[in-house]
Amino acid sequence: DYVEEINGFRVLETEIKQTLNLDRVIITPGDSDVQEWVKYDLGRRAVQSLHDELTSHETVALTGGTTMAAVAEMMQPTSSAIRPLFVPARGGLGERMENQANTIAAEMAKRINGDYRMLYVPDPLSEETYHSIIREPGVKEVLHMIKQADVVMHGIGDALTMANRRKASKDVLEELNTGRAVSEAFGYYFDQSGQVVHKVRTVGIQLEDLSTIKTVIAVAGGKSKAKAIDSYLRQGKSNVLITDEAAAKALIKGF
Ligand code: G3H
Repeated sequence: DYVEEINGFRVLETEIKQTLNLDRVIITPGDSDVQEWVKYDLGRRAVQSLHDELTSHETVALTGGTTMAAVAEMMQPTSSAIRPLFVPARGGLGERMENQANTIAAEMAKRINGDYRMLYVPDPLSEETYHSIIREPGVKEVLHMIKQADVVMHGIGDALTMANRRKASKDVLEELNTGRAVSEAFGYYFDQSGQVVHKVRTVGIQLEDLSTIKTVIAVAGGKSKAKAIDSYLRQGKSNVLITDEAAAKALIKGF
């Protein structure tokens, strides 16, 4: 309503910030499950946060997904002194081309006059391929850039929705069911208390690496994702949340 609009959801933002132990929370109006434009609004706010965060030639590592694709679509050039380098946070996770981190990194760079690098690795990786591919000079160079990222921006998904979208094997689906997986981010699947249930084997950022990165921004909205957002944020690796009104209200009132 009017008062909420004026306050820009400030009360709710503070409440979520405290409950989930975050440095910053941004809430946009609406429910991205119901209205597609809400996702673009999330994207717009995510771009704004990135602009606030970036100085000169910093590196931004990002994940895939439809939310991150919406962030890319809202990306706009900023001052010419700011030319970020966009890299995918991790190798392929089984997404369609338009939702892959590689594609999104290139798209963001194009729109903001920045630069990008891609990771060419098959997914999923066998143990054997994993060990040989990280020694490839081209891959090694990009991996080095990824580990040096100043900012990481990522989506959060509902565990089973993501596993099905990425055509996970029967064995993986069983593992997720047995482990009661609730959320997914970076190709990691978490239960309701934020414990890792399963991870997709690929190169790039591993969960532990996030602790040394100064800004890790999660962008996720929609009432259906509230439980997943809560689960993922429990392990405390991200410090900024950009979400929508519906998810925010469910986070506080319970799901
Ligand atoms: O990793 C998280 C998921 O990629 C989120 O995907 O933005 O399409 O819901 P989504």
